[in-house]
Amino acid sequence: MLSTGKEVRQTTPRNCVGWTVIPGTLELAEIERWSGPFSTDLRERAVDALEEGLVIYFPRLPFTLEARERLLLSPSVADGKAKNVSLDPASGSVKGAAPDADRAALQTMLDRFASQATQLVGELFPAYVAGLERARTSYRPVEIMGRSYSPLKDDKLLHVDAFPSTPTHGRRILRLFTNIAPAGQARIWRVGEPFEDFARKFLPSLPRPNPVSAWFFAAVGATKTRRSPYDQLMLALHDGAKRDAAYQKGAPQVEIGFPPGTTWLCYTDQVLHAALAGQFALEQTFHIDLASMVDVTRSPLRVLESLAGRPLAS
Ligand code: SIN
Ligand code: FE
Repeated sequence: MLSTGKEVRQTTPRNCVGWTVIPGTLELAEIERWSGPFSTDLRERAVDALEEGLVIYFPRLPFTLEARERLLLSPSVADGKAKNVSLDPASGSVKGAAPDADRAALQTMLDRFASQATQLVGELFPAYVAGLERARTSYRPVEIMGRSYSPLKDDKLLHVDAFPSTPTHGRRILRLFTNIAPAGQARIWRVGEPFEDFARKFLPSLPRPNPVSAWFFAAVGATKTRRSPYDQLMLALHDGAKRDAAYQKGAPQVEIGFPPGTTWLCYTDQVLHAALAGQFALEQTFHIDLASMVDVTRSPLRVLESLAGRPLAS
């Protein structure tokens, strides 16, 4: 069952006593399996909430670790240089693992998580299947709280996802997270205001998209493809929000704790989010073609185009 998101609902899922669904932020889906079939009602509500920019929360959807995988619950499996251990879907190779980590177990765990996440997304959002690309899978074994980064790299600050070397040209970034912490500790997020409200505040002060720098970064190989004006604006929004201390402090935001054994997903190119604390999460990234969206007018590309009054990606 999904709540409508318009009302505040008190629920008491097994692993999360007294959870409050936050209207306009969180949509609850009380499924207990990674595979469907899911009811039409559930699917319609889920896609509507997702495209509206809500986080879909699955309080009863754990990812179960095998005995060998439980030994991976230590920050020492990461090599310390990268934040995360990740699985590249193209090569199947694991990156960011410590030299003495059990790579085979990491690979099996990441692969199984990726398959379950892909199955869930495919069955919950059948409209997306034709335009769905499974991207990187990551394991995040390092405690977030207390890690210090330069502001632009610091995901403890509210931001929308935009990656300097990977232009999307408007394709969507959907991410699914599961908290696999063995005991007690929730993953704490903050979720900010709707994308359009955020964009309206920042757009007037952003530098104008610059085709020469887009050409240059592609020519020297700093970007995988040439950044569109959309990509330049999204990066500027990402950086602008993180650099603006007053915005970070004063912007509308709610704090949410995702306990162990729970899963959540959202469009991270649209939902303003910050991860404040927590250890041991798995994450799956998907890219989704704009043409697959049920209501494309709610995509960041179309919202920015309507604010800018011109096309921003071809
Ligand atoms: C992020 O996407 O900004 C980080 C989310 C997390 O690791 O929980
Ligand atoms: Fe992010």
